Amino acid sequence: MQTIGILGAGIMGNGIAQVSAIAGYNVLLYDIEQKFIDRGLTEMEKSLSRMVKKEKLLETDVPKIMGKIKASLDLKDFKDCDLIIEAIPEIISLKKETFAKLDIICKKDCIIASNTSAISITDLASSVSAERQTKFIGLHFFNPVPMMKLVEVIKGEVTSEDTLNTSIEYCKIIQKETVVINDLPGFATTRLAVIILNEAVFMLQDGLGSVEEIDKSIKLGLAHPMGPLTLGDLIGLDTALHILDYLRDEFGPKFQACPLLRKMVRAGKLGRKSGEGFYKY
Ligand SMILES: NC(=O)c1ccc[n+]([C@@H]2O[C@H](COP(=O)([O-])OP(=O)(O)OC[C@H]3O[C@@H](n4cnc5c(N)ncnc54)[C@H](O)[C@@H]3O)[C@@H](O)[C@H]2O)c1
Repeated sequence: MQTIGILGAGIMGNGIAQVSAIAGYNVLLYDIEQKFIDRGLTEMEKSLSRMVKKEKLLETDVPKIMGKIKASLDLKDFKDCDLIIEAIPEIISLKKETFAKLDIICKKDCIIASNTSAISITDLASSVSAERQTKFIGLHFFNPVPMMKLVEVIKGEVTSEDTLNTSIEYCKIIQKETVVINDLPGFATTRLAVIILNEAVFMLQDGLGSVEEIDKSIKLGLAHPMGPLTLGDLIGLDTALHILDYLRDEFGPKFQACPLLRKMVRAGKLGRKSGEGFYKY
């Protein structure tokens, strides 16, 4: 594989583009508007300079890495990609429409992967031709992508062994650990993470304590690397809400989103990406 196409230059897309370019792949980064691509490239440059400061990269590596990334506003540019990783909003209809278009544009042996946090890979794969469904897989990265070691690899019902092995090989080359799991909504990580986040928002709504106190309790008392409300702001509260709504439809009321979370999303308080969530940035 030589060319990796990334759909969506947001939090996850720019991270996946960055680790792929560092590993030497040619990267095509697509978004719907130039301003989103520009924001993604700026974030990437900031992340690379942090790596230079930590002596994980040489300053001279940065232009070489950025030079590996081409931007595009036209899906047709994906025709020569060997692997495409989708990282657009967690909305089933939007993802399916996009996969159906890509299926027609991409070459026959191109693998299509989704970075969905929770949506069934088999369901997403139903938007492409039967032949492509064998080349469809879930590659679930974690935020921030350059720092987080794991990729959850999710096998759809008809994902081929070849697709699985090639995808694991790609993860190795970009220096990630993998777990291979079967396809159930929410996979292993998201299914548990959103329950913890949602319960923390209920605690806040119920007046149990402040944002800081709830986060500190979980961070220091349960030895989590960060509190659940900090994590929610990092993930994006809109993304968390989409996931909860989807898992409620799949598994029932234990995933019913806390009204406070829904209200914050309606008010545009989406976390870090909008400048305010449980904390101000
Ligand atoms: N944020 C996280 O912590 C996290 C972790 C793992 C997986 N994910 C998943 O990754 C995906 C992306 O999440 P994110 O946090 O990067 O979202 P984001 O909102 O930061 O970025 C999404 C990007 O997609 C672009 N976009 C919107 N519609 C598009 C379209 N039709 N075609 C191409 N691009 C389009 C947007 O302009 C935006 O730049 C979601 O499925 C999410 O569930 C997120």
